Amino acid sequence: MSETSVFIPSGPNDCAKLGPTGWTSCQDGAEVAIYGPVSGQVIGKVHAYTTHEVDEAIEKLEQGYQTWKRTLLVDRARLLHQWADKLQENAPQLANLLMLEIAKNRRDSLDEIQRSADFIHYTAEEGLRLTGETLFGDAFPGQTREKVSMVGRVPLGVVLAIPPFNYPVNLAVTKIAPALMGGNVVILKPPTQGAFAGMNITNLAYEAGIPDNVIIAVTGVGRVIGDYLVAHPKVNMINFTGSTQTGQHIAQKAIMVPLLLELGGKDAAIVLPDADIDRARDNIVSGAFSFSGQRCTAVKRVLVVKDIADQLSAKVAEKVMALTVGNPEDDCVVTPLISTQAADFVWDMINEAISQGAVSLTPLRREGNLVYPVVLDYVTRDMRVAWEEPFGPVLPIIRIDGAEEGVALANASEYGLQAAIFTQDVSRAFMLAEELDVGTVQINGKTSRGPDHFPFVGTKASGMGAQGVRYSLLAMTRLKSTVLNI
Ligand code: NAP
Ligand code: G3P
Repeated sequence: MSETSVFIPSGPNDCAKLGPTGWTSCQDGAEVAIYGPVSGQVIGKVHAYTTHEVDEAIEKLEQGYQTWKRTLLVDRARLLHQWADKLQENAPQLANLLMLEIAKNRRDSLDEIQRSADFIHYTAEEGLRLTGETLFGDAFPGQTREKVSMVGRVPLGVVLAIPPFNYPVNLAVTKIAPALMGGNVVILKPPTQGAFAGMNITNLAYEAGIPDNVIIAVTGVGRVIGDYLVAHPKVNMINFTGSTQTGQHIAQKAIMVPLLLELGGKDAAIVLPDADIDRARDNIVSGAFSFSGQRCTAVKRVLVVKDIADQLSAKVAEKVMALTVGNPEDDCVVTPLISTQAADFVWDMINEAISQGAVSLTPLRREGNLVYPVVLDYVTRDMRVAWEEPFGPVLPIIRIDGAEEGVALANASEYGLQAAIFTQDVSRAFMLAEELDVGTVQINGKTSRGPDHFPFVGTKASGMGAQGVRYSLLAMTRLKSTVLNI
């Protein structure tokens, strides 16, 4: 097993399981092969948890919960700060793992680790300020001051945290840290591609002093072990980030537990004639193509008023063709997509749109899982790429007559994650924002989740509930009223 704190698989036969005594090899042959996006080859294997092992893990967490929920807030905060420090200390190795597991470039990988440590520190502080209120009976007609309600927040119990592949550290941490600070215990089901990352941040939590009956990582393919986890009678809350399809499946399988679902998106950038066109170009290109477009908040369609469409399309295409394309180790912006299936999906959508009359302003090129960035102009409403989430480096441009059509087109999507408006008339931007049926409207900026104390909300097919430090703390605790009868 690894000498350093961070376990990185050394080859295709390296199978790892994180147990109570640290790293062990997989014994019983129940393994899941992890394929590296860059090589397309097996980079290592992880243990496939059985339902019996899931039961054992949850039983262990239930025991840990009895102690953890009584742990002083200041002690929870101290342990979380120590966990954050461990992430920062091991950032280079964790970044190497992200490059290997999900082909995220070095810079973005280091950013993900730093962002995660910052999130944990902030959560530890914010959790100390989860206060309640006191209510007096005589505020209600016919009542007296002989009844006093002291309202506080208490944990929910066992939280099932399920992050997606594109942020296997950060979107795990944004679930785990608030859950623990709220007094809950956590069973983490990492994404298959991101499983080593999920086990490593859990191991670093152990090294930071967080007990191994307070957080446990259970690896295994979601479609195999997921239903058992989701419907488990001793799971008290599910915090999920991933595709709309999976999120809706989970919502159907879950049995009367609170859900926090952050799902897919088809974020629109609406560009009006008075926009600062260079600012719009820069934000659209960065928003659409960072991490090869594998972000739920990626700009996934440009709705541009016809008067400036030629100018904007040309500027966007020029900047896209200057993007670096290649390996994550070289800090390229566009790197191989997570799988051959994902690359096929994007490639087919691009070629289908072109067969229907869309015009590619950039060269069409693919090398295995590496799809070169594509800007499609003259996209029309009858094309899949106008509505579906490619989760890859393709940007459809749809020409519109005016802002009202842009709002209507944005709202016609099944998704409601974010939208961006580019205009120099900020008053008009606020009026248009009012009309957009999304969780967040960005005015003169790219669609994105941060900063992480802001609420992050999806509506319609983009999810339910709100992430963000304080919002996650509230989502993973509940009110409790103690009434004193004087
Ligand atoms: P995904 O296929 O839905 O998987 C997400 C997570 O769910 C993974 O850990 C996966 O495990 C697990 N899973 C799969 N089937 C499950 C089941 N039946 N029960 C329980 N868990 C199950 O999504 P992804 O490919 O990882 O991520 C891409 C999608 O997520 C895109 O649609 C993107 O828009 C969305 N996303 C949304 C946000 C947001 O904040 N709104 C952020 C990131 C991504 P396996 O890996 O083992 O299948
Ligand atoms: O897809 C991940 C989602 O949470 C977006 O995060 O920070 O890249 O906008 P961000």
